[in-house]
Amino acid sequence: MSRRTVSRTYPIDRIRTEFPILGTTMRGKPLAYLDSGATSLKPQVVVDAELHYLTRISANIHRGVYQLSEEATVRFDEARDSVRQFINAGDEGEVIFTKNATESSNIIAFGWGRKFLKTGDEIITTELEHHANLVPWQQVAAATGAKLLFVPLDPVGRVSPDAVESVVTERTRVMAVTGMSNVTGYMPPLRDIAAIARRAGAVFVVDGAQLVSHHPVDVQSLGCDFLTFSAHKMCGPTGVGALYGRRDLLEAMDPLLYGGDMIVRVGKESATFKGVPDKFESGTPNISGVIGFGAAVRYLQGIGMEAIAGHEQELLAHAVRRVGEVPGVAIYGPVTEQGVAGGVSEPGGILSFNLGDLHPHDVGAVLDGEGVAVRTGFHCAQPMMQFLGVPGTVRASFYLYNTFEEIDRLVDALNKTLEVFS
Ligand code: ALA
Repeated sequence: MSRRTVSRTYPIDRIRTEFPILGTTMRGKPLAYLDSGATSLKPQVVVDAELHYLTRISANIHRGVYQLSEEATVRFDEARDSVRQFINAGDEGEVIFTKNATESSNIIAFGWGRKFLKTGDEIITTELEHHANLVPWQQVAAATGAKLLFVPLDPVGRVSPDAVESVVTERTRVMAVTGMSNVTGYMPPLRDIAAIARRAGAVFVVDGAQLVSHHPVDVQSLGCDFLTFSAHKMCGPTGVGALYGRRDLLEAMDPLLYGGDMIVRVGKESATFKGVPDKFESGTPNISGVIGFGAAVRYLQGIGMEAIAGHEQELLAHAVRRVGEVPGVAIYGPVTEQGVAGGVSEPGGILSFNLGDLHPHDVGAVLDGEGVAVRTGFHCAQPMMQFLGVPGTVRASFYLYNTFEEIDRLVDALNKTLEVFS
């Protein structure tokens, strides 16, 4: 049976067969997985790539002169090239493998911020941020005497270029902004912010944890200096992520970790270090994870990021309309105002809402009983919850494998929730 989708060419039926878990049940019901903002499902091709390394190669990289170690190194390097191509980084030295987007943020904050910021310097950020793109900067501000400034949001949580300009001063050194809010799906106008950062002489950091998995990203045309993202949100394994950085910035920075595989020469008292990317990758990395990450980005490229983003917009339009019809629902963020066809900026495939005065966890528990998986709570974004004036939300987040029928099941389960608590 063909699943409803507006675009007839989008291969939704084939895609669904490529994710084995979609054939399973949760609480005895077919799984409707609407929590890809937390982590995505994994296609078989990614599982196979990891399994091949684990069962057929298994050796460490960069260390052996024997065949298996060479093969491991080749596949690891291929993955780096795949990720480089995926975001159009200029060269492979600009793509650092990390544990996740959080580690990538910490490398920037401590490796660059801690080293170069001084008392009175200013870091501009927003209340939209995930804690991973805020707490490291708070720590660096406390350690250096730099100040954090927040771009004023409009009433529905948008950032305008004028609002960014209003907080820029001659002391602005860093602008750290999310590419897509993990709460509302709102995508700030990154190109405009990049231009403002350039004029101010500030380093522009983009938290791409939600953005890179859902939209085409070209770091060169975007004009960011750093971009952080995680494999597990883009069909890859957990425990592996990436940091893109402009080569000159990375070369000037200090690594977060020191040890093996990042040194040129070690004496009893001191050591010298390799260049990028090795300087930032000490110790044995998550080799199977990196190889799976490479397979994940090639898989996404095979479908096409434009096609995936278009599919998610159709899902979001359907969800805004259908969830909006449930009595007592309050939807958060610009999504209802700007529509899903554009406006100030495109929305990502995320819908945050509450159902009357029910606690989000209570709503989530009833949805779980119906086989519908969503995230509930404050979504690692407490300043955003304060901005919205709520303790938490129910969040449905969509990805390449979701269908209109799953959103209809979410709506049915929300109506059932109202019955349960009436
Ligand atoms: N950052 C992830 C989320 O938004 C875990 O759910």
